[in-house]
Amino acid sequence: MSESRLQGRRVAIGISGGIAAYKAIEVIRGLTDAGAEVRVMLTPEAMRFVTPLTLEAVSYHPVAADWLAAQGAGETHIGLAEWAELIAIVPATANTMAKLALGLADEIVSGTVLASRAPLVLAPAMNDVMYTQQQTQDHLAALRGRHAVVVEPAIGRLASGKSGVGRLASAERIVAVIEAVLSGRRNLDGLRVVVSAGGTREAVDPVRYVGNYSSGKMGRALAEVAAARGADVTLVTTVPSNPEGIAEMPVGSAAEMLTALEKACTGADVLVMAAAVADYAPDQVAASKLKRTDQPIDLHLRPNVDILKALGPRRGLFRVGFAAETDELRAQAQQKLESKHLDLIVANQVGVDGQGLGSDFNAVTVVSASGLVVDIPRLPKWEVAGRIWDAIDTTRNRGA
Ligand code: CTP
Repeated sequence: MSESRLQGRRVAIGISGGIAAYKAIEVIRGLTDAGAEVRVMLTPEAMRFVTPLTLEAVSYHPVAADWLAAQGAGETHIGLAEWAELIAIVPATANTMAKLALGLADEIVSGTVLASRAPLVLAPAMNDVMYTQQQTQDHLAALRGRHAVVVEPAIGRLASGKSGVGRLASAERIVAVIEAVLSGRRNLDGLRVVVSAGGTREAVDPVRYVGNYSSGKMGRALAEVAAARGADVTLVTTVPSNPEGIAEMPVGSAAEMLTALEKACTGADVLVMAAAVADYAPDQVAASKLKRTDQPIDLHLRPNVDILKALGPRRGLFRVGFAAETDELRAQAQQKLESKHLDLIVANQVGVDGQGLGSDFNAVTVVSASGLVVDIPRLPKWEVAGRIWDAIDTTRNRGA
């Protein structure tokens, strides 16, 4: 995330008393690195897990802990409530969420939330039984009903030593959701999104394949941004990374990708085909490993399945394609948009150093069937993904 993303934005972080309290430090770091101003408040229980001194050091401000005493910089709960553009509770324990759902205010975190009209982000973390218990789920539903945004906990190792749902979401994910809320971009809430990513691998023999340089980074960034903006995301990828909060379907060849996408696209609202699908695949796959000889070998390639064509336009599915072009970017994109019956196309200029294939940066031109054209300059792929989602959203809302 670039430093100016949250420049000057005012975020209050409330820490409640759970083992995951120490992870709030990373979230505060992420926010201050992105330019946000952060004020921290602690419940009395949280103070037993993390110290005000540490939090003062990472937030560069005095910490509000004892709500009956004016703090160093005068941060009472009313002062904080008025100051904050957004309040995030990291971690949100079952007890704190129950208090927030009921409107109880008996320490500075719950008191500040009750005194504020700022958007509320909750990042729950607790034991799996506590999390799945009906009481907790009822409180979460009540808070969601009042427009609180919940950063779902991950499945993984819990403080108890066993594995289950209840691990605090990663700091990156929490910061991304805070950013989406602050920029008014939780607009994909409830949308079912499918993204394909990476270069397909077409088998030559059991250990070799024909492939390309695609790293899957652009697709992953598109999936992560969509999830941060509230979408329910499935990532079909040849470069699996088990991203938190995203359903991942690892695949290898174009044929496997097509099968996975057929399944994932059922009932989906948006398909983003960021994958670099191999246009040709070996005609024959050797059953055993090909042995080296001194003779040249011929690899006979056949045209591969065209996934976008095979999936075809379907009702209710907004289809986004990618185009990698060396010249005449806009004209080529327009032509591909039409021939593949897409709703929108993202054209990359390939062969430019420091962007595109394998890089963390990209520069693209977006063209929609409804006539929208957006040139996105060279930026980190995460930011390019954000702008692509802005264009998708604009086009969908226009009813392209
Ligand atoms: N695509 C696909 N199936 C293929 C090849 C491409 O679904 N066999 C998708 C890509 O994921 C991308 C779009 O089609 O979203 C355009 O891909 P690109 O390779 O640029 O276009 P091609 O149609 O293959 O044309 P060419 O390579 O000749 O430029």
